[in-house]
Amino acid sequence: MKKLRVVVFMHEDLVPPEKLNGVPKESAPWRTEYDVVSTLRKMGHEVRPVGIRSDLSVIRQAIEDFKPHAAFNLLEEFDGVAVYDQNVVSFLELLRVPYTGCNPRGLMLARDKALCKKILHYHRIPTPEFAVYPMGRIIKRSKRLQFPLIVKSLIEEASLGIAQASVVYDEAELNERVRFVHDKLKTDALVEEYIDGRELYVAMMGNSRRKVFAIWELFFEKLGEKNERIATAKVKWDLKYQKKFGISSGEAKVLAPDKEKEIVRMCKRAYDVLGLNGYARIDLRMNEKEEIFIIEVNPNPQIAEGEDFAESARKAGMSYAELLQRILNLGIRWSQNRSG
Ligand SMILES: Nc1ncnc2c1ncn2[C@@H]1O[C@H](COP(=O)(O)OP(=O)(O)O)[C@@H](O)[C@H]1O
Ligand SMILES: [Mg+2]
Repeated sequence: MKKLRVVVFMHEDLVPPEKLNGVPKESAPWRTEYDVVSTLRKMGHEVRPVGIRSDLSVIRQAIEDFKPHAAFNLLEEFDGVAVYDQNVVSFLELLRVPYTGCNPRGLMLARDKALCKKILHYHRIPTPEFAVYPMGRIIKRSKRLQFPLIVKSLIEEASLGIAQASVVYDEAELNERVRFVHDKLKTDALVEEYIDGRELYVAMMGNSRRKVFAIWELFFEKLGEKNERIATAKVKWDLKYQKKFGISSGEAKVLAPDKEKEIVRMCKRAYDVLGLNGYARIDLRMNEKEEIFIIEVNPNPQIAEGEDFAESARKAGMSYAELLQRILNLGIRWSQNRSG
């Protein structure tokens, strides 16, 4: 394997320490950054972590000084704006630096959840019925939508603003939660039909040929009947809460072989119609009738060691180091095929 110079771009606050020195990495905010940097180093690559906040010249300078073979992109925002990740990647394209993960167009399409759903809908890929409630407009329920509904931010990620109260059963609850998204998250609200059922995740990678890993599932073992089985911010990020309510994830429990095929086919089509490359995770829900819906498409998903994406790759026999190497290779190959 060729040793590469790899610059790793990450949020300025998430630059990891060189050594753990007893700090538990499981709860550290820079866990992914630490895993990627330390594993790439162990693999023999020359790695330079670079923290970014809002200054493009830092990116340019790092490229000029270090002359990397590739940039490993761990940025999920720029200057506090989540959807600016696509602009950073566009900047890297202009600088002609190969980078890991998804291309700017794929990022743009997937990050705008409504636009993404419109594209899926056009291609007859099932996704819940929805309506957008823009900030500053009167809240009027679209008659197409049947309660229960779920209210989310149109653009935020990581379950920001998703709580038990996000699932609403009547007009009053709907209005209250839409207002919450407008006032607290300061974004438009996306209101979708609520799919009661199982939550599945599909990890995939590739440029033109894409590989699909084992289907993953989110389990709620000790969550009371009254609670909605959804991935709220607490479910995703609060270790104590996860323990208390028996929340875990792992290979999906029994799925009929034809269901599994249907899910894989659906995810590959979504990946293709959105023009994704690199790596992505698709979130799905399956209701009691075993109907499947795509909830969200996540290009550049979380890739900390031991987390869902890396674990489902490991299930397919791919070590964490191999996974990172493949992500690098895909980025390099993508730019080679495009540079003209
Ligand atoms: N239409 C829906 N029906 C049921 N649950 C949903 C729906 N939309 C979102 N959820 C729940 O909310 C979680 C977060 O929503 P998602 O759209 O994936 O946003 P995020 O970008 O924050 O992950 C999902 O993982 C799922 O548990
Ligand atoms: Mg999600």
